[in-house]
Amino acid sequence: MGIQLHKVNKFYGQHQVLHDINLSCEKGDTLVLLGPSGAGKSSLLRILNLLEVAEQGTMHIAQTDVDFANPLSDQAAMNLRRKVGMVFQQYNLWPHKTVLGNLIEAPIKVLGMNKADATTRAQTILQQLHLGDKADAWPIQLSGGQQQRVAIARALMMHPDTLLFDEPTAALDPEITNQVVSIIKELSSTGITQVIVTHEVDFARKVASHVLYLEQGKVVEFGTREAFDNPQTPQFAAYLNH
Ligand SMILES: Nc1ncnc2c1ncn2[C@@H]1O[C@H](COP(=O)(O)OP(=O)(O)OP(=O)(O)O)[C@@H](O)[C@H]1O
Ligand SMILES: [Mg+2]
Repeated sequence: MGIQLHKVNKFYGQHQVLHDINLSCEKGDTLVLLGPSGAGKSSLLRILNLLEVAEQGTMHIAQTDVDFANPLSDQAAMNLRRKVGMVFQQYNLWPHKTVLGNLIEAPIKVLGMNKADATTRAQTILQQLHLGDKADAWPIQLSGGQQQRVAIARALMMHPDTLLFDEPTAALDPEITNQVVSIIKELSSTGITQVIVTHEVDFARKVASHVLYLEQGKVVEFGTREAFDNPQTPQFAAYLNH
């Protein structure tokens, strides 16, 4: 089982931003979240690794069950976050560390990996992402696309079960976007479950195994990638044509 949400409700103060969200996908699936600005996509994504907590509902992710009525202990939440990595739009690389330094920091500090093993793993992942010659570069010396790939590499260092992306291609040109498409497909083939928020329908079509379309905090359509060619709701059809 990959991810399952049942009747998840999220409020900011009095303002309800997610209403009875249900979804399920299998390990290795790539679920794309689409919807207009303010629909609740980022909020939903952040709930998946407990950067935000919901008020009601249940969630299964990365072999962990969460009942939002009975919040997890801090330890259990930390364990979940280790297994559910997040790649942010603004890559959040440490500017005062090299690429290698950015990659090995968390595995050493959080997982207790020794430096030699972390360095070997970092080099393998950098090769996979076509960054083999960038280990000693500083973030500022990299293009946006290269920084985005370093951010993905950094998340992969933690052996994530699930990876979350919030608008990973927003600042990238089409060629780099296609590299991100390839990386996401490769990760999917290794069994990593991925959830991706995007505004770019073409990108979404290329990577999605499943799609969830939200409006005003409610699921309007949830289906497989077939929904791009055969939307079941007029709202999703209109969104695809906009
Ligand atoms: N920390 C917060 N405190 C209060 N309200 C918030 C907070 N974060 C988001 N919201 C509100 O929740 C709603 C959903 O926001 P969210 O960021 O999840 O939307 P989104 O679909 O990701 O939009 P966008 O496409 O613009 O990124 C919006 O009405 C937003 O104003
Ligand atoms: Mg957002």
